[in-house]
Amino acid sequence: MTDKKSNSRKRLRSEEWLNEPNHPDQTAIYLERYMNYGLTREELQSGKPIIGIAQTGSDLTPCNRHHVALAQRLKEGIRDAGGIPLEFPVHPIHEMGKRPTAALDRNLATLGLIEILYGYPLDGVILTTGCDKTTPATLMAAAAVDIPTIVFSGGPMLNGWDNEKRIGSGSIIWECREKYAAGEIDYENFMEQVSSSAPSSGHCNTMGTALTMNSLAEALGMSLPGCAAIPAPYRERAQMGYYTGRRIVEMIDEDLKPSDIMSKESFYNAIRVCSAIGGSTNAPPHIQAIANHMDDIDISITDWQLYGESVPLIVNCQPAGEYLGEEFHRAGGVPAVMGELLKTGAISPHAMTVTGKTVGEIYGKASSKEHKVIRPTTEPLMEKAGFAVMSGNIFDSAIMKKSVIDEHFKSTYLSDPEHPNVFEVRAIVFEGPEDYHHRINKPELAIDEHCMLIIRNCGPVGYPGSAEVVNMLPPDYLVKQGITCLPTMGDGRQSGTSASPSILNISPEAAVGGGLAYLKTGDMLRIDLNNNTVNLLIEAQAFEIRKKSMERIPIVNQTPWQEIYRSRVNQLSEGGTLVTKDKHTRIASKHGIP
Ligand code: FES
Ligand code: MG
Repeated sequence: MTDKKSNSRKRLRSEEWLNEPNHPDQTAIYLERYMNYGLTREELQSGKPIIGIAQTGSDLTPCNRHHVALAQRLKEGIRDAGGIPLEFPVHPIHEMGKRPTAALDRNLATLGLIEILYGYPLDGVILTTGCDKTTPATLMAAAAVDIPTIVFSGGPMLNGWDNEKRIGSGSIIWECREKYAAGEIDYENFMEQVSSSAPSSGHCNTMGTALTMNSLAEALGMSLPGCAAIPAPYRERAQMGYYTGRRIVEMIDEDLKPSDIMSKESFYNAIRVCSAIGGSTNAPPHIQAIANHMDDIDISITDWQLYGESVPLIVNCQPAGEYLGEEFHRAGGVPAVMGELLKTGAISPHAMTVTGKTVGEIYGKASSKEHKVIRPTTEPLMEKAGFAVMSGNIFDSAIMKKSVIDEHFKSTYLSDPEHPNVFEVRAIVFEGPEDYHHRINKPELAIDEHCMLIIRNCGPVGYPGSAEVVNMLPPDYLVKQGITCLPTMGDGRQSGTSASPSILNISPEAAVGGGLAYLKTGDMLRIDLNNNTVNLLIEAQAFEIRKKSMERIPIVNQTPWQEIYRSRVNQLSEGGTLVTKDKHTRIASKHGIP
């Protein structure tokens, strides 16, 4: 960092707006309105860096709402280190509140934030992250604009409890659905039990998409060590806010930008950490979307298998394990995971971090403080726990999370002694979540344990944004018999809190003419987990004839953004990002002003 530090007297980006002696008229116009709430000209022209606080919290984004209060500690840190904080809103994204999908808004929030970071007098930015898509959305924008950036996550909620039993957010929904279907609980109990899983401020406390993406932001080097796992209400959360505020000011001095931190090695580290924590199946499209917004980083879906599949599961958190965010934090959080992985050379020590030090320097001595929650890699919960990247004759790629394959699934589908890990199923095809809910209990489908539930028209174009619906519950009569899980497959996503070993994120999706569009109920499929393939058992010629005779479902846009999004979005295997002429949304002149 020393050579960069020597340039620290260079003119700040914000001075192009606020301190331009040759253009008094323009400078005065930019300046005067920032003073109308009490900032002084002296402050604004003092050469102090101006730090944006990208505020994702609001009443509409409850998982991030406490960032509104935490911003005070960020501001105090920024001020103490000699900067000036300016807080501004990011387009809200709440996973469970937004129709038709929160995923539709990830790219919208990114575009909005790119305009803000590019067009306003900001020298650096703190990204307040939390709920699932707020982390990738803001990191994608920061990657594109490439001004000094640090991630400050809001942290998971406290543990939920039902007497002695830990109740994980998200995961409880799947459990209650089963109990409700089996007639064990009524509507009131359902609401009561699900609500008990959200006992405090914060994001989901399971290793769902939120905790995964905040952990991966830390693994990418973009937040201070230990930031991701601190539960939202703990005092360390606000203290971390203060240190984060201080650090971003130093980063301006060091000119330490996302492009200096997020290298290819950092992305491979993130992929490996994702396997080790039993992370969400939403991570591949989000990590790829961040990489898409970097200048020269190409991550492909096959990298997940190449770099991630061999890594063991060492974090014992729901849905792959038992514990929740509080225990993950006390066991050492992401630093402990990185430390354990470094011991066996599973991640690169050379990747840079926002601290100005490398992963090896920061995490080299870290290790688990609680072995029942974070295991050494020599005693993992599961070997080879990464995602399998599946392919076959009706799609190019799909993801399967092997760390959630349970004993029942193994013994039912994978234990044929002549063909271990290979099974054949009869397809039951649904045209989307509405069709699934409408027909799943119809006796004429005759669904049994030899069936696979398949859902389509749920990808980025089909159900705009892509819906978290692939983890479908079997019909009620099977649940009552104790069959709570059937193999499932689809072109949508599934919640990171789900423990279903689905085959999901199928690309290309049905709505753009992928082979999945031409599957019929009753078709036979062979799934081979030795070779990671899914094949429709049909003659190629017969399938071609079928393709010509089947009509696809028309697409109807409900809002202007849906139309724009659908016309530009790529597939989940490519990150579900918007494709613009100039490769994605890359900013041509990063450091210039408009
Ligand atoms: Fe917001 Fe899970 S719904 S973090
Ligand atoms: Mg989710």
